[in-house]
Amino acid sequence: MTKRIFVLNGPNLNLLGTREPEIYGTQSLKDIEQAMRAAAPDCDIAFRQTNSEGELVDWVQEASQTAHAVILNAAAYTHTSVALHDALKACQARIYEVHLSNPAARDPFRQTNYVATCASASIAGLGARGYLVALEAARESLS
Ligand code: DQA
Repeated sequence: MTKRIFVLNGPNLNLLGTREPEIYGTQSLKDIEQAMRAAAPDCDIAFRQTNSEGELVDWVQEASQTAHAVILNAAAYTHTSVALHDALKACQARIYEVHLSNPAARDPFRQTNYVATCASASIAGLGARGYLVALEAARESLS
């Protein structure tokens, strides 16, 4: 059975590569997508980014019906979105939370997290590599 994995990216992550590279690194989201596809040729990866909270909620609901796992960098919605939290709680796919930076070591407003309590694992502070770590964990858990 092909493993279907959603990789969902929230607001401003379309700017990766040029956005505060000292915090988020120099790899673009396209670079991350290519590295993930190369690392998991056996998986059916749906790789998406949105700046819209509602669209992110819609995709989590879609993943619940069609995916085995969700790798989610909800970006700023991590710290604000009860709607996303509720969608993740209802989601039947396994959730892996990813952040490029380590929000726990940053601003006070980043200490609130609506995603972590819904996730099987949270990976933060490893830069783009965090996506590959999450992918490896998701593949292992599904094999
Ligand atoms: C982020 C961390 C969030 O606090 C921030 O709002 C982001 C990116 C990360 O990947 O480090 O946009 O999710």
